[in-house]
Order: sequence, then C-alpha cells, then structure tokens
Amino acid sequence: MLTNMFKQIFRTKPISLKSEGELKRCLSAFDLTLLGIGAIIGTGIFVLTGIAAANQSGPAVVLSFVVSGTACAFAALAYAELAAAVGGCGSAYGYSYVAFGEIVAWIIGWILLLEYSVSVAAVANGWSGYFSNALHAIGMGLPESLTKSPELGGIINLPASLIILILMGMLIKGAKQSAQLNTAMVFIKILAISVFIGVAVFNVHPENWHPFMPYGWFNTLPDGKTVGVLAGASLVFFAYVGFDAVSTAVEEAKNPQRDVPIGIIASLTFCTIIYVIVAGLLTGIVPYTSLGVDHPVAFALESIGYNWASALVSTGVIAGLTTVMLVLYYGLTRIILAMSRDGLLTPYLAKVNPSTQTPVRVIMITGVIMSVAAGLIPLGALAELVNIGTLAAFVLVCLGVIVLRRTQPKLTRPFKNPFSPLFPALGMVSCGALMAFLPQQTWTRFLMWLGLGIVIYFVYSIRHSKLKKS
Ligand code: ALA
Repeated sequence: MLTNMFKQIFRTKPISLKSEGELKRCLSAFDLTLLGIGAIIGTGIFVLTGIAAANQSGPAVVLSFVVSGTACAFAALAYAELAAAVGGCGSAYGYSYVAFGEIVAWIIGWILLLEYSVSVAAVANGWSGYFSNALHAIGMGLPESLTKSPELGGIINLPASLIILILMGMLIKGAKQSAQLNTAMVFIKILAISVFIGVAVFNVHPENWHPFMPYGWFNTLPDGKTVGVLAGASLVFFAYVGFDAVSTAVEEAKNPQRDVPIGIIASLTFCTIIYVIVAGLLTGIVPYTSLGVDHPVAFALESIGYNWASALVSTGVIAGLTTVMLVLYYGLTRIILAMSRDGLLTPYLAKVNPSTQTPVRVIMITGVIMSVAAGLIPLGALAELVNIGTLAAFVLVCLGVIVLRRTQPKLTRPFKNPFSPLFPALGMVSCGALMAFLPQQTWTRFLMWLGLGIVIYFVYSIRHSKLKKS
C-alpha cells in the first residue's frame, strides 16, 4: 500500500510541447523582455534599496545586489533551459511535474501562488503610498482613513484595492492589450530611472561611500535582527522577483523555445546593471544612514535640491509599480490555470472565455481576493515571505535541470545551460544560502503555508489529478 501511495504522489507528467489550452499566441521576444522588466523593477529598487542600505549593508548594498543577482542568474539559466525544453504552462510548477513528480510539482505550484499573490497585494500597498502622496501634492488628497488598513488606524486602503480591480479589467481584455500597457509603462519607468541617474551622477560625494561595509558580511544583533551584506542580499532579492514570470507566458509566446530564454536572460541582465548603478549612486549622493524611508530615491533627490526630478521620478515609480503588479498578477492566473487543468485545483478555474481568449474566472476570483487583502492587510513584512518562497522554487528549478539531464538525456534542448551540473548546483547553493539568511519568523510562516498545501493535496488533489485518471 505504501509503495502504491509513493507511486501515486511521484507520478510524472510526460513532456509535451503542445499547448493544452486555447490561449492566443501573440507575444514576441521583445514583448517578453519588457514583460520581464515590467515585473522586475519595482518596490525592490525604489524602496528596499534604501532600507537595506540604512539597516543592513551600508553603501555595500551594491554588493548585496551583486550577490542576489548572481544567485538569480544561475536560476535564470536553469529556467531558460527548462522553459525551452519542457515548455508547458505554469513555470516552475510545470517543470517539476515532469522532473520530480506530482507532489513536488504541487508544492512548487502552491509556493508560487503565495509568491505571486502576496507580491501583488504588497506592491499595491506601496503603489498606494506613492499615489496618495502624489494626490496630496496636487491638493486632491484622500482622507487618511481611506488610505490605511484597519491595523494602521484606517478603514480601508482604497487606492490599493482599486488598482488591483483596474488591472483585473486589463487582464480580462487580453494578454496583448496588457502587454501594450506594460510596454508604455516600462518606458516611463526606464525614463524615470534615467532621470535619477542623469542627476545623481553629477552629485556624488565619494565620502558617502565610507565606511563602505559598516555591518560586515553577516552578523546577528542581540535582538535577533540580521545585518551585513548577505542579510541585505536576502532582502533586496525581492528586487529580482518576477523574471520567472516570463516563463509563465510560454503558451502565449509566438516562438517560445527561442523567445522565452531570450526574455528571461535579457530582462534579468538589464535589471541587474540598472540596480548596481542606482544603488551605487543613491548611496553616493546622500549618507546611507538617511535612506531608511519609504521613498528613498525621491527623498535623496529632494535632499540634494532637485525637487522637479523627485516629482518626475515619483511618477515613474507609480508607473513602475503598476507594471510589477500587472505581470505578477498575469503569472498568478497562468499558474492556477495550469494547476486546475491538471486536476490539482478544481476544473472550474480552467475555463478560458471564448470571446476574450483569457481565463476570466481565475482573473476575477484572484483579483477580488487580492483586492480585499490589499485593502485590509498591511503587507509590508510579507516581502520576506515572498523571497523565501521564490528562493525555494529557484532551488528546485536548478535541481530540475540536473535531474532531467539524467532522466531524459535525449530531450531536445534549444537552450542549454552552460557548465551543467556546475551552474545549476551553484544556483542551488546560492539560493539556499539566501534562504538561510532570512529571519526565523519568515521560516515559520513559510512552513505553515507549506503544511496547509500538503493537507489540501492529500484531501483533494491526489484524487482528482488528471494523471490518476489517465
Ligand atoms: N521585483 C519586484 C519588485 O521589486 C517584485 O517590486
């Protein structure tokens, strides 16, 4: 009986590059790269850089970005190989179904649901902060009770709630329309960053870079807080979350085997370069100790007397955070779609609306849930929860490359990870290490979410899995 159960939960899916759904193939390599940049550049660089510089890394936050960027690069190469060779909808979830079997796939899918949904709601809160500030600046500010969740003394964070509903409408209309909005917003975001770089580069005071590494590499303070470049790296890792969303668009890519690897690697490379430049300049124009605010980039520009640039950059941040939410929301719906098609979640969710060719039910259900959550719960602390989940998924994707090279050596791999198994192994080690640098509380929450997922698997999914029926 035990062997039987073992066989059931580790049943693997055959590789099929054929699309199972009826989504429209409309995205090019360029669209996919912009989709990646849309998802990647957001709260991480615009908010967490300052917090990490002030509290954990000092000016060496630049190194924190290099460390987590390197871990992401290994993971990105693994994603690129699997996206091109295994394809299928649902990102890391889909690959692990092929490489490891159902229960691991379920766990990864379950983790990705956490990653994407919590990210969207958290970024919506950040968006609301900038947006409300902008409204105040033009004399149209909302009362505080409508911009704060109950825990912070308000009634509802209305802008956070509403922006998710607006994005819901966009996604229902279709991937191409969403991609077009994304393209426009990404350009505004890049423009804002260029303005910052253009101003900052002429205002650097090298003495701000000393001491460069005030908290060392890694230290635990008496109150349990972790500091140092590596602790900073596991926080700013949030800035890279999202490049994996490109791989959820496999079914809507025109030429997925070529374009998805390009989209993943190009967007990650671009963002890493931008991050290092921005983090270096930010800590060069003002002392790092002053950056622990919720709008550090705008704040730094104001501090050096460039109010116009600060306003412009804030506008770009509002656009930037919008694209992050849009792409992560998009990724979330595609993962649920894949899981429900496989029978692990109810088939009710798998329906694609014939006229819009989008999964309207999933978009609406998740949109309403995230909108309520974003309105009522302050989600700031959950960034670390997002990180731990994402890192766990990255570790398994890297392992997937090694496993599949052994179990399916003949598989056509349009994109091959160089130096396998060394690079995937380095990916596992570096992402695993970043997980280890996260606080204890984050681990507890993460394990609770995993526990819930495992219960659902054994109560529902194991019996309704399509693989069981076939
Ligand atoms: N990488 C995304 C951000 O920084 C999630 O907002």
